Amino acid sequence: MKHLIDPTDLTREETDEIIALGEDIYEHPERYRESQKYRKLATLFYEPSTRTRLSFTSAMMELGGNVLGFADATNSSAAKGESVEDTAKVVSSFADIIAMRHHIEGAPYVASRVSPVPVINAGDGSHAHPTQTLTDLITIKRELGHIDGLTIGFCGDLRFGRTVHSLIKALTRYKDISIVLIAPDELRLPDYIKQDVCEKQGMPYREVRNIEDVMSELDVLYMTRVQKERFLDEEEFDRVKNSFVLDCRKMTLAKEKMAVLHPLPRVNEILPEVDADPRAAYFRQVEYGKFVRMALITCLLKWKDDPEHTMPENGETFHDRRFRCANMKCICNNENIPHSFKLTENGVVRCAYCDSKATVNK
Ligand code: NCD
Repeated sequence: MKHLIDPTDLTREETDEIIALGEDIYEHPERYRESQKYRKLATLFYEPSTRTRLSFTSAMMELGGNVLGFADATNSSAAKGESVEDTAKVVSSFADIIAMRHHIEGAPYVASRVSPVPVINAGDGSHAHPTQTLTDLITIKRELGHIDGLTIGFCGDLRFGRTVHSLIKALTRYKDISIVLIAPDELRLPDYIKQDVCEKQGMPYREVRNIEDVMSELDVLYMTRVQKERFLDEEEFDRVKNSFVLDCRKMTLAKEKMAVLHPLPRVNEILPEVDADPRAAYFRQVEYGKFVRMALITCLLKWKDDPEHTMPENGETFHDRRFRCANMKCICNNENIPHSFKLTENGVVRCAYCDSKATVNK
């Protein structure tokens, strides 16, 4: 069975198949209208969402299926202290497929380990957001015609922005991509992505502090909001909140054929004056997201019992009392499950749930 917890759970071929199907559904929605009749999607959202939850809901409805679930975990058994594992086991009796968003990193992964139906990670803390990645990839493909060979700038909160982390991981599957990271010091991309993803996969990256200096090189500009809810320190947030703002003047420096993406919601990092620019693709991106989720649901249900489509072997995980995960937002520090680690090819020990670097116990 295939779950989607991290973008690299999908092979490049599977990703291409989902994007191609998403494009076909976009062109011919009538052909798919009844295709998931009587099937049920459970949306378990433990963290606020407008787009992602409604996008999943509308995707399943447009395939002729049904949707159940909750948008506010205070109304669920989590409020009574039920574990993620137990919730996943229970919900899988009611639904054919589960989409889970959680503020605790690693929660959808833990759910997938016990669920007899496919689990989709709809965003876990600041860790990963693989369905936004599929949305971003289909958008780039439709706006620019291809993904290989592009220079992609990421601007804003690269530290806490899970959509950035997942898209960078996925881009390593494509040819000749180079990325430019535009962020203030406080919001730089985490080391594990730079080392274990970019460097290991040989994807060149550059870090700059000024959007104007690189604007003319970019084929895609991926804007993000500063993730206020993930800051522990209010003063640090106030210092960086207005860091990079895209306006029409900066757009004059960009290529004629370029695409501005944003996972949304935006706060003030793209001025509304940019919306009328034909290169502003972020509202079209929302629409493509629904079609790619229709394709994802279709593929995961189709692949469920197919031995050709299983989860990748991600290397051995191990338990070792010498290490602990110091990330207080990780599932292993929030629920009664053993701390578990993996050794990366660079020789770094990382938490198997949230990817943060393991701390050595004194
Ligand atoms: C993003 C998310 O939730 O991570 N939004 C989304 O899913 N479209 C980005 C964000 O919240 O800034």
